[in-house]
Amino acid sequence: MENMRPASMERITTPALAEAFIAEQIKEIQAQVGDKKVLLALSGGVDSSVVAALLIKAIGAQLVCVHVNHGLLRKGEPEQVVEVFRNQMKANLIYVDAVDRFLDKLAGVAEPEQKRKIIGAEFIRVFEEEARKQEGIEFLAQGTIYPDILESDGVKAHHNVGGLPEDLQFELVEPVRLLFKDEVRVVGKALGLPDSMVFRQPFPGPGLGVRCLGAITRDRLEAVRESDAILREEFAKNGLEGKVWQYFTAVPDFKSVGIKDGKRTFAYPVILRAVNTVDAMTATVEDVPFALLQHITQRITSEVEGVNRVVFDLTPKPSGTIEWE
Ligand code: XMP
Repeated sequence: MENMRPASMERITTPALAEAFIAEQIKEIQAQVGDKKVLLALSGGVDSSVVAALLIKAIGAQLVCVHVNHGLLRKGEPEQVVEVFRNQMKANLIYVDAVDRFLDKLAGVAEPEQKRKIIGAEFIRVFEEEARKQEGIEFLAQGTIYPDILESDGVKAHHNVGGLPEDLQFELVEPVRLLFKDEVRVVGKALGLPDSMVFRQPFPGPGLGVRCLGAITRDRLEAVRESDAILREEFAKNGLEGKVWQYFTAVPDFKSVGIKDGKRTFAYPVILRAVNTVDAMTATVEDVPFALLQHITQRITSEVEGVNRVVFDLTPKPSGTIEWE
C-alpha cells in the first residue's frame, strides 16, 4: 500500500471529487480483500465511521464492525452507532457493552497517563476477545488518516488497534490513509453519513475519562456526560456549533459548599471550555455571549445531579492545554 501522498493528488473538496474517490476505493478494497472477512473497530468517530461506510459499500456483510462501549462516550453516541450502521446501513455490527469492565479497571486510578494506559489496554483486550470469536478474518480495517502517518515520522501509525498480540495479526485495510481530516469529512458526507457524525468536533480516544478529573466515579462521569449534552445542545441552538472548534465540560474531583432550595449543598463544580484553533498546538478562548453562559449555568445547576456551580475557563493554550486532564 502506498503511504505517501503523491504530489499530483488533488485535494478532495467537492462531492464530485468525493464520489470519484469512493468509486476508486471500492475497486481497490474489493481487489485487496476478495471474498475474505474484514474486522473494524468502529468508535463512531469521523475516521472509523467513514471507513465503515466505505467498506459496507465495497464488501457489505464481509465487514464485521465491533463497537466497544467503554462508558466514556458522549450522550447518545453508542445509540447513534447502532442506529446508523446496524439499522440504516445494515452493517454486520457487534455491540459490546464493556462499561462495567472499564469502570472497574479505572476505579481509584487518578493519574492521567495511567488512566489513558488502562483505557487503551482494556480496549485492545476487549477487541481481541471479539476478534477471537470470529472465524476466517484475514483483514483489519483502520481509520488511519494522513496526519497519523506524517506525525509518526514516516513510521506507520496504527490509528486505533495497534498492539494486538503476535498471533492475531491481520493485513491492514486503510482506505483513508492518504486523506486529511477535511477530505475525510467530504467523503463521509458523500457516503450519506449524518452531519452530527461527519462534522463532529475532536474527541479524545479515552473520551470523557479524560474530562472526569482524578479517579473516575460513576456520579461524576454522569455529571460530565449530562453537562456536555446541555452545552452541545445550547451551542447548536445558538448557532455556535460548527463555528467554535471545540467545546466541552469537565468535572474536577472536589466539592464545595452551595445552596439550593434554601438548603446547604456540598457538590461538584462543572468547568466549561470553548476554544478555537487551527492546528490544536495553540488555542484561543471563544468569546461566548455572557447571557448564553448564564443560561447554560442555570440549566446545568438545575438539571445535572450533584452539581452546584459552573465556571468558565478563560485560559488560552498555552498556558493551558485544550483538554482538562
Ligand atoms: P491538548 O489537550 O493536548 O489537546 O491541547 C489537543 C487536541 O488533541 C485532542 N486530544 C486527543 N485526540 N486522542 C485523540 O484523538 C487522544 O487521546 C487525545 N487527547 C487529546 C484534544 O481533544 C484536542 O483537540
